[in-house]
Amino acid sequence: MTRRDAGGLVPVPHEVVARGGERFVASGVVRVGCDDVLRPAARLLVRSLGAATTVDACVTDLADADVRVALTTSLALAPGGYELEVAATGVTVRCADLAGGYAAVQTLRQLAGPGAFRAAAAAPTPWTLPAVVVRDSPRFAWRGVLLDVARHFMPKDAVLRFVDLAAMHKLNVLHLHLTDDQGWRVEIQSYPELTRVGSWRHATTVGTWRTGSLDGRPHGGFYTQDDLREIVAYAAARGLTVVPEIDVPGHVQAALAAYPELGDGSPTSVRTTWGVSTEVLTPSDESLTFFRRVLDEVMDVFDGPWVCLGGDEVPTARWRADPRAVARAETLGLADVGELHGWFVAQLCEHLRGRGRRALVWDEALGPQLPRDAVVLAWRGPAHGAAALARGHDVVMAPEQFVYLDHRESDRADEPVPVGFVRTVQDVHGFDPLAGDLAQVGSSGPGRLLGAQAQVWSEHLDTPRRVDYATFPRLAAFAEAVWSAPAERGPGTVATEQFMARLAGTHLARLDAAGVEYRPLEGPRPWQTRPGVAGFPRDLDEELAAGGWTGVGGWHEPDGAS
Ligand code: ACM
Repeated sequence: MTRRDAGGLVPVPHEVVARGGERFVASGVVRVGCDDVLRPAARLLVRSLGAATTVDACVTDLADADVRVALTTSLALAPGGYELEVAATGVTVRCADLAGGYAAVQTLRQLAGPGAFRAAAAAPTPWTLPAVVVRDSPRFAWRGVLLDVARHFMPKDAVLRFVDLAAMHKLNVLHLHLTDDQGWRVEIQSYPELTRVGSWRHATTVGTWRTGSLDGRPHGGFYTQDDLREIVAYAAARGLTVVPEIDVPGHVQAALAAYPELGDGSPTSVRTTWGVSTEVLTPSDESLTFFRRVLDEVMDVFDGPWVCLGGDEVPTARWRADPRAVARAETLGLADVGELHGWFVAQLCEHLRGRGRRALVWDEALGPQLPRDAVVLAWRGPAHGAAALARGHDVVMAPEQFVYLDHRESDRADEPVPVGFVRTVQDVHGFDPLAGDLAQVGSSGPGRLLGAQAQVWSEHLDTPRRVDYATFPRLAAFAEAVWSAPAERGPGTVATEQFMARLAGTHLARLDAAGVEYRPLEGPRPWQTRPGVAGFPRDLDEELAAGGWTGVGGWHEPDGAS
């Protein structure tokens, strides 16, 4: 191992030192000792590395005389951090907390070689680790990835596997986009029609919605509450918090198909095309009561501190045409009907607060009505993150210009369904949550920059295989951007060249062992292309020239609507 290749570790740790001397090799029975705080991390090590080898590993107390791997908590370390030392005689790991324990386990798995990511060993395989010292801690507290299971349903097993892969990259938040115009994916026992009607559509757009072509094939699926509890527990056992998203008051056409009275009453069906639906929730007491009940059930399943209320892309045309909505805006003393958007979201933020949770909202919901404790997910550009910080909100950066992983990976004609900006692995590696306007606002407040999140929207990712292609290896580059120490990164920089070398030299072999169908660095394999299916490429330089870091993408209210 050289200092440059850092043992091939991804994300690169703050410090890796090769110790020299014999490596650690253990076969037979291996006892992993730990204190009570770190027991779940020790269990993960035993299960993951145990499964990939022929070692009989078990968790035991530190006092056990035969301990070969020891995990202890140390208050001296930065939150989420760890220090580990591998010698021929044993492995010692000091962790700041349980999060640090999970991170250390992922480092040990990576050090154990690509085979550690297989589900079974085909031949006698000991635990083999190089003699090394690693000192490490995360740059950002929120290291998230969004998986859109609404546009295309992903079977539960695919979600569990996605959790494993996110954990492997030391991410700690899985944002599940559970509801949208094209499907409602979470069982709500008070309102069974949401899944009976809302969880499937009779056909799906082929490629961009602009061509108007439909495949004529029903698509659907949903998770029971027990499925979701399982996902939450599985994620927790790997150091991830799951944030559920129930998107309101727009992106609700699937809910309106089930309960038309939540809208303007006109019958509708689950949307078969992409783009932004004009069908929105009517801002009535009935809609609020309905969604408070939905959120109560959601909070019963998801135990994390945050619930995402969406709040993005809300066309106001239906409200402007509906006398009840206009009257509601007047009664509330709002200056414009469009302010019902902020008002509606604020009501549900308060409901969450009353039950000890915090709302996460997309940046369109930022405004004077948004309660200060709401966390803003800035997707339209760094300027929106800076605006939210300046208003005192905590912010997670999720700018589409950098970290929308459904966007095309190159400008090659054979990229499957090429949409959005070209975002290469090197571009994603160059993402800095503190770039652009945030560099001025910094993290000095009044709001705090919690971290960043990559988005895997699934309009054009209709299977877990397509999710693999879009997500990897770019998620590895994102992980390094949010975990590792700040550095000058991006195409042509030394740090990114070194990352690419670690990727090609070691990390892709780990993904291969895990069965990930990532995009090869040289381009798609023949069966990863989608000949003849039209995308909608966008040009980042053109859009930046037109809109700067405020962004000109996303959806805009048509002229004259407000
Ligand atoms: C979004 O991309 N509409 C959050």
